Amino acid sequence: MIDLHCHILPGIDDGAASLDDSLAIARLALQDGVRRVVATPHWGEGTFTGTGAEIQERVQALQGELLGRGVEMEILAGAELFLSPEVPARCAEDPLLTLNGSRYLLVEFPLQMVPPYAEQILFELRLRGIVPVIAHPERNAEIASNPELLRKLVDRGVLAQVTAGSLEGTFGFHIRRVAETLVKRQLVQIIASDAHSAHDRPPLLGNAVQRAAQLVGDEAAHAMATTVPEAILRDEEIELPPPQPPQRRSWFSFLRR
Ligand SMILES: [Fe+2]
Repeated sequence: MIDLHCHILPGIDDGAASLDDSLAIARLALQDGVRRVVATPHWGEGTFTGTGAEIQERVQALQGELLGRGVEMEILAGAELFLSPEVPARCAEDPLLTLNGSRYLLVEFPLQMVPPYAEQILFELRLRGIVPVIAHPERNAEIASNPELLRKLVDRGVLAQVTAGSLEGTFGFHIRRVAETLVKRQLVQIIASDAHSAHDRPPLLGNAVQRAAQLVGDEAAHAMATTVPEAILRDEEIELPPPQPPQRRSWFSFLRR
């Protein structure tokens, strides 16, 4: 499997604090069957605002440390950009902020809301040939209460990544239900860990893929952690099935609640 979203770089954000933390994340991910991890430090005001080249240097340094200890995990460079009006211009100047230098860019919204400028920025990115990948939409309060907001973005060529822990209940029952709905409706196309450490938010994908398989079948669930991330890392175009409409609830389902 490939983990497209992981805070594995030491000392750059609120993820791994030390090289030992990074090693623990890599070892745990390997045990879970992950062979490639994209290092995606938070990028934005109040956290890291350096260049993609700086991230690449740190990735190469970590890769050397891992291989020196016999930890055969491939680390690639990326970033998780907090969506702000400056993001399109910054990405035009610095294409290395994308996932492995591809056209795909991991972006995150604030947790409470979809900012009023979000749609405009996402489509400005599309016009520049960048495909935004929205990180953990299930944890955004507005999308959670109205998944149609995400459907409108996906219909216009935006991708979305569900966090593995959300499907396992790490963030509570409500977010788990939302994550399941987004998977069933094919509004998310990628499962990634968004790991911050080996303990609290671990780099594990296997259980979440199994949970997704119960919802959409084995093939589609595995694609979310294998073939879709692989196509992203190769900068290939991705053909995806269209989102499904919301499921109508029968009167019986209301009675059963
Ligand atoms: Fe993240």
